[in-house]
Amino acid sequence: MCGIVGATAQRDVAPLLMEGLHRLEYRGYDSAGIALLTADGVLYRERSVGRVDDLQNAIGPETPPGGTGIAHTRWATHGRPSDANAHPHTAGGDIALVHNGIIENHEQLRHRLESSGVGFTSETDTEVIAALIEQRHAAGEDLYTAVRGALPELRGAYALGVVSAREPGRVVAARSGSPLVIGLGIGENFIASDVAALLPVTRKFIFLEEGDTADITRGRVTVHDAAGQPVERPVTESGLTLDSVERGGYRHFMLKEMHEQPAAVAETLEGRVAEGRVLEAALGLGAGDLLAVTRRLQIVACGTSYHAGLVARYWCERYAGVPCDVEVASEFRYRAHAVDPGTLMVVISQSGETADTLAALREGRRLGYAGIVAICNVPESSLVRESDLALMTRAGPEIGVASTKAFTTQLTALLLLVTAMTSRRGREADEHQLVEALAALPGTLERTLQLEDQIARLAEHFVDRHHALFLGRGTHYPVALEGALKLKEISYIHAEAYPAGELKHGPLALVDDQMPVVAVAPRDELLDKLRSNLQEVRARGGRLYVFADDAATFRAGDEYHVVPVPAAPEPISPVVHTVPLQLLAYHVAVLRGTDVDKPRNLAKSVTVE
Ligand code: M6R
Repeated sequence: MCGIVGATAQRDVAPLLMEGLHRLEYRGYDSAGIALLTADGVLYRERSVGRVDDLQNAIGPETPPGGTGIAHTRWATHGRPSDANAHPHTAGGDIALVHNGIIENHEQLRHRLESSGVGFTSETDTEVIAALIEQRHAAGEDLYTAVRGALPELRGAYALGVVSAREPGRVVAARSGSPLVIGLGIGENFIASDVAALLPVTRKFIFLEEGDTADITRGRVTVHDAAGQPVERPVTESGLTLDSVERGGYRHFMLKEMHEQPAAVAETLEGRVAEGRVLEAALGLGAGDLLAVTRRLQIVACGTSYHAGLVARYWCERYAGVPCDVEVASEFRYRAHAVDPGTLMVVISQSGETADTLAALREGRRLGYAGIVAICNVPESSLVRESDLALMTRAGPEIGVASTKAFTTQLTALLLLVTAMTSRRGREADEHQLVEALAALPGTLERTLQLEDQIARLAEHFVDRHHALFLGRGTHYPVALEGALKLKEISYIHAEAYPAGELKHGPLALVDDQMPVVAVAPRDELLDKLRSNLQEVRARGGRLYVFADDAATFRAGDEYHVVPVPAAPEPISPVVHTVPLQLLAYHVAVLRGTDVDKPRNLAKSVTVE
């Protein structure tokens, strides 16, 4: 959600904080702010509605001096985007604080503080944290003690960076429910919401654990755990390159990430398939033991990752013969469950920090699932740390808010898992079919991306539409869901997806000559059924856009626009058919002039409920 960066150094830190904010902007981008401390304790603060560039304009060409500072890019939760609600928040003239997360008991805290004479200048939940710390600081506690004393009063999620004008050269950090890393430099140290923000200044990181607090000066980092005990957290060297988090020659991160899919999927498969088999041990430490006891799967995820889970359900039951349920995490976490013995929980998340998915994982732990497998793209994430087995997707950093390569690599990882389960059940023919299909995947995706020019022209048909319907059947129904999600999130065209057989049960009423209907139509056993559904659309004058492989023999004509998708073996067909829908959404969004990588109201990593 929000992005935090902080630093204490001998040099002026404003330029590196601003660079860090640019790199964190994908996390939230409705307002931004910075606070700096000079060596003699002068507190400077600037905030601005809008992007980091707007903050830079507010600051002016000269960055102010200061060797210690914190900065923030916001995704509004409490209080609309405004200068007053932007972070850092201050209290008592000395304290400045940035926060990512949500404080659930902020209203009670605010009333209590107001009745003791504290005034507030914003509508945020964050300002109460600054006030709580300030009360203790003003009473004589040093900054680190004051922060640690205030934290037990907070309910909810937070990653915090705090500075005090009375203690220049010190940044205090805390983490509970929202991600935070410490970057280690030589004679300078940093904090940030993710490592990408700090790659220009360091490769060495400490990943704070749940409940950790950290006292950071130029020459020292001290960490205490949730129980208040001093702890040594391991220092990790990041293998990420600057290139991997930059746009290269591409106009948008989303475009770059779509084109990275063949290589990303090849990376997901690397070292995990050999001699016609999926190497169970290569799926992660302890994979064999978990699969040996697995009788059923419960998949939980959000958004695009949930759609990956929906595809996997078809695979799991069709090939491995293992029952599989799939649920969105925000529902799963709040309902009662009856867990069958031998049920493996599979949580899917690109970021590994999605609050609902993490909460579902913890609920799953409490419910006593046979084991918890994370399918995730970020090795240092909370989800990976808290699961029994982590099957990494290895997609590389995904910066565009609209998930693309994360989805296709999740599907690839899920197909690996299903293949391993299929093998365990002795279904050799199915196993063989799956392994062959996996091997064909990177090349088929490469050929599918060559449709881009054709799809860019097709996008013109959608640019002035207000609504669109997406249809699919079987494994291609979740692909239709994903296509509709992509279109709505980056082009702001209202799009819905239905299993094509449901059309006549309601949505057909929406179809007229103003309604584009996108059909995902590979040659499979449901094709004839789908054809009949499309006739129903034609008969109502709907405009049909059919994404079909040659074998499906749709002929373009007055009633059909046909995009010929390269033929693919059945198991990987949903992965392949995803790509043209991503390209369609992208080119429609470009034509409509939206901010493709940072669509309105959204953020990359949803670390709040
Ligand atoms: O990081 P996660 O995979 O847990 O994120 C889940 C969703 O927030 C995410 O997939 C979202 O739906 C994307 N913006 C879709 O493109």
